Amino acid sequence: MLKYRKGLSDMPAYDVAERDWRIKLNANEAPTSLPPLVEERVMARLSRVAFNRYPNQEMEDIIAQVAENYSLSEEQIFFGNGSSEIIEKLFFAFGGARHTIVYPEPSFSMYKIYVKAADANGVPVGLEEDYSLDRERFVRAVKENKASLAVVCTPNNPTGNLIPLSDVEYIAQNIDCAFLVDEAYLEFAGEKESAVPLLAKYPHMIVARTFSKAYGLASARVGYMMADASIVEMIKKAFMPYHLNVLSLVTADVVYQMRDEFMPRIYMLRDECRRVAETLKAMPELTVYPSYTNFLLMKYAKAVELNEYLTERGIGMRSFGSAPRLENCLRISMGTREENDIWMKEVKRFIEEKR
Ligand SMILES: Cc1ncc(COP(=O)(O)O)c(C=O)c1O
Repeated sequence: MLKYRKGLSDMPAYDVAERDWRIKLNANEAPTSLPPLVEERVMARLSRVAFNRYPNQEMEDIIAQVAENYSLSEEQIFFGNGSSEIIEKLFFAFGGARHTIVYPEPSFSMYKIYVKAADANGVPVGLEEDYSLDRERFVRAVKENKASLAVVCTPNNPTGNLIPLSDVEYIAQNIDCAFLVDEAYLEFAGEKESAVPLLAKYPHMIVARTFSKAYGLASARVGYMMADASIVEMIKKAFMPYHLNVLSLVTADVVYQMRDEFMPRIYMLRDECRRVAETLKAMPELTVYPSYTNFLLMKYAKAVELNEYLTERGIGMRSFGSAPRLENCLRISMGTREENDIWMKEVKRFIEEKR
């Protein structure tokens, strides 16, 4: 008899139906690979990798770049295999039996899974009708449950809305446990919305970022955290030695050096988000939520049927099944303009047929 760790069999799996989509819009990825000039430099850098060696200087190099960009010290930054690994380790480090982690709902579906994996007690705080976060209710939940970690996601996945920076600061001011701000999509909203400048004022705050979204580097699995040096020092203990491979580190290093090259794509995706939202809003059957990201959330009474119709045509969107507050919702990552025109035509055809 196989004796698995207690709780593992009840743990939900992160389940997204994958296949060879004609148009893939289900994971908030970038629709195209690296800009050609960046790809050329990445390939040149990869050709100089010492494949026989464990990672060494490479993590320090990229940390130095981020530190310089945000005027932080190098001890305040640490990289992981995607921000997923960073978040998982934070949940592990602040979790454990009897510790409570508070997070919004609906939000990134992995929070609930990491709570279970960390053997912690999860307290979801429901978002309002329009998916905004009631900061006072959130603070109350953190205090009443004596939480060890509070998490917010801004802009929020899958709802697309932004938590005003003043609300993020209000929460930081009013709680004293570790406070993680997941900024996976921040580049789409713009740096002025980032909580990073608040780190100097609130040493219990942590910001997580990723290279998977705006920098389109989902394949390499690179993300990082910024926090007070004392938090970083503790969290590092949860990682295995040499956890992040050199191929990903040097790729991310080149991408970060060349991050200006990504601005046209970020603007294009933001413009597409606006254009698509306007087009969809012309169909009264659809509710389209405001987005500060590279994806849109829409609600439609026949969303499940629509998703099946699109799947049959090779168009992959994210459906949330019966997830709380996301019934009849589809999340659509922005593709290229051509891809967006194709799927919107299909959506229109389906809706008109059902009228
Ligand atoms: C809100 C949020 N945080 C974190 C992640 C993890 O991203 P990654 O592990 O690719 O850095 C995602 C991925 O979809 C996300 O949506």
